[in-house]
Amino acid sequence: MSGARTNARLKKSLTKAPNVSDQKKTSASREKRVFKPSAEFQRQANLGSLASYKKLYAESVNSPEKFWGRQAKELLVWRKPFTSVLKWKAPHAKWFGGGKLNVAENCLDRHLGTALENKAAIIFEGEPGDVRTITYKQLSMHVCRLAHVFENMGVVAGDRVAIYLPMVPEAVVAMLACARIGAVHTVIFGGFSSEAIKDRINDCKAKLVITADGGWRRGKIIELKPAVDRALEGTPTVQSVIVLKRTGNEVKMAEGRDVWWHDVWKGGPNTHKAKAFDSEHPLFILYTSGSTGKPKGVLHTSAGYLLGAKMTSHYIFDLKQNDRYFCSADIGWITGHSYVVYGLLSNGSTVFLYEGAPNQPEPDRFWQMIDRHAITILYTAPTAIRAFMRWGDNYVLKHRLDSLRLLGSVGEPISPEAWLWYHKLIGKGRCPIVDTWWQTETGSIMIAPIPGAVPLKPGSASLPFFGIVPKIVDEKGKEVPRGTDGKMIITKPWPSMLRTLWGDDERFQKTYFGDYPGIYFTGDGAKQDKDGYFWISGRVDDVLNISGHRIGTAEVEAALATHPAVAEAAAVGRPDDLKGQALVVFVSIKTGVTADDKLKEDLRAHIGREIGSFAKPDSVRIAPSLPKTRSGKIVRRILKDIAAGRQVTGDTTTLEDISVIAALQTQD
Ligand code: WTA
Repeated sequence: MSGARTNARLKKSLTKAPNVSDQKKTSASREKRVFKPSAEFQRQANLGSLASYKKLYAESVNSPEKFWGRQAKELLVWRKPFTSVLKWKAPHAKWFGGGKLNVAENCLDRHLGTALENKAAIIFEGEPGDVRTITYKQLSMHVCRLAHVFENMGVVAGDRVAIYLPMVPEAVVAMLACARIGAVHTVIFGGFSSEAIKDRINDCKAKLVITADGGWRRGKIIELKPAVDRALEGTPTVQSVIVLKRTGNEVKMAEGRDVWWHDVWKGGPNTHKAKAFDSEHPLFILYTSGSTGKPKGVLHTSAGYLLGAKMTSHYIFDLKQNDRYFCSADIGWITGHSYVVYGLLSNGSTVFLYEGAPNQPEPDRFWQMIDRHAITILYTAPTAIRAFMRWGDNYVLKHRLDSLRLLGSVGEPISPEAWLWYHKLIGKGRCPIVDTWWQTETGSIMIAPIPGAVPLKPGSASLPFFGIVPKIVDEKGKEVPRGTDGKMIITKPWPSMLRTLWGDDERFQKTYFGDYPGIYFTGDGAKQDKDGYFWISGRVDDVLNISGHRIGTAEVEAALATHPAVAEAAAVGRPDDLKGQALVVFVSIKTGVTADDKLKEDLRAHIGREIGSFAKPDSVRIAPSLPKTRSGKIVRRILKDIAAGRQVTGDTTTLEDISVIAALQTQD
């Protein structure tokens, strides 16, 4: 292509009309209404006035040790009382030193012999429609049995156990059985590929893996066992695999390594004497994406994590023991850990578990189930709400939804449009919405309205939870004036904060406490309005939020780099109406390779194999080279503009070869 022609095309494309992200603002985007708690809700609320929120909040930040010490004493069952509340040597926290407890005992045994014993702990509905109800007593017996199985297999306190299961009650049983014997679970979301399983198992050196023959999703079987088999070709530490029969499809069992859950389970004792563990005993590792390199093993410990999960469930979900609570997040994510398992069961509530897709067999599956099981609280993600909106109101209007009393949102900013739809169509104008901001690393919800106390503003996660002090700062750590965008930090330690990254304390210190020495940096941008409400805009680092899933651009790039056709790759996000963000990858290929649709499909499949199918890019663009500075740095800013179909802004004069912009823009 001649230089003149390239430049003419380039000029044209650089001045192309902006789209997507610059859509016209609708009236809902300018929503200014404030939704005050109704008197009816306030009357029954766990915390029923703004004044009481303010009073408790003030105490929690002015005398944190007194506050947290009291909460821990009142809310948790201790085998040995703690002697100190907090030892903080930034960035390392030790909470409730000297204390001993058992987390599983706090979720189960404490309810036995009470009125809760024969109440449902879990109501489960499988995708094919099978329903099971498991009482607290039954759940406790299941957990005790599995704890014995683990011990008989030689699993001891501190050992790591990987769990790769569908959303079935046995996933909860497996987590709690680990907690009971002090083993550290690492739950791997069922959408991850064998490569991702292998990396996680090797990073934490798991001894035991728990999986299933499969799980149901959109009427099809998700083949979990073959993925584990492939992963285990490269995991020297794994000694045994327990396989749950869920779908009944044929799987290969490796002699001497694999056992069926129902075989090892048979005839075992239903009681188990649980040991007590130190407050800081590791409870679980959960891998999450960061802005650089491989996924990070976020470590949470026992007492502080449990206190955070339990207290936030009580206040933010206004949780009562007669609630029937449905959280649509998978157990493989932090939301499932804190608000399906630990926070809910420690409060003696009833958890509803659903295995499958929200539109199987029809897009009204959630609404059907809410009516069928008289669900009172629904906690879901904006990406799901946008899908429901798209599927149409009629699917909702067919159902009563009159058992609901509270709605929750998590995972990404919720737009005022989606908030109002959720409020009107699902909540019938009656249910408060708690927009909850938090992270894998924070362990429990950090910013959210306490529904009987705090007035709601659509699109804002509102005010911080007790003891949490978020601030919006500039690059230098100086607080910015109200109404100004900045980066969000959390200045005081809190009980459920991550303790370190498994095996990489240096990375922990650098990632979270490096930008603002000694202070936790969230990685999110936000602003605070004149009333002190927080409005979170999303990640300011190279972590994408696709359908509420965190995906690191560096991980996608590393996966592409292992494909034989790829010379160089860059991954960026672009705004997407349904997913929040969509993944766009830019690839330059090696000489001799043909750039065609087959190659694009191959690259997508490759990412599916390396990470998991949920990380497959929405768009693959191939060019002879990527836009780089003369010193060889890929200019992501330009790629983000191209991906979004926006005018390329900013300085392009330092580029090594300006024609690559046009080459990338011309592709879909
Ligand atoms: C984003 C999920 C706006 C945020 C619990 C955060 C949110 C990341 C909200 C953590 C919210 C989560 N409003 N953004 N209510 N909740 N986020 O670790 O960017 O999977 O940093 O934890 O999700 O994602 P993670």
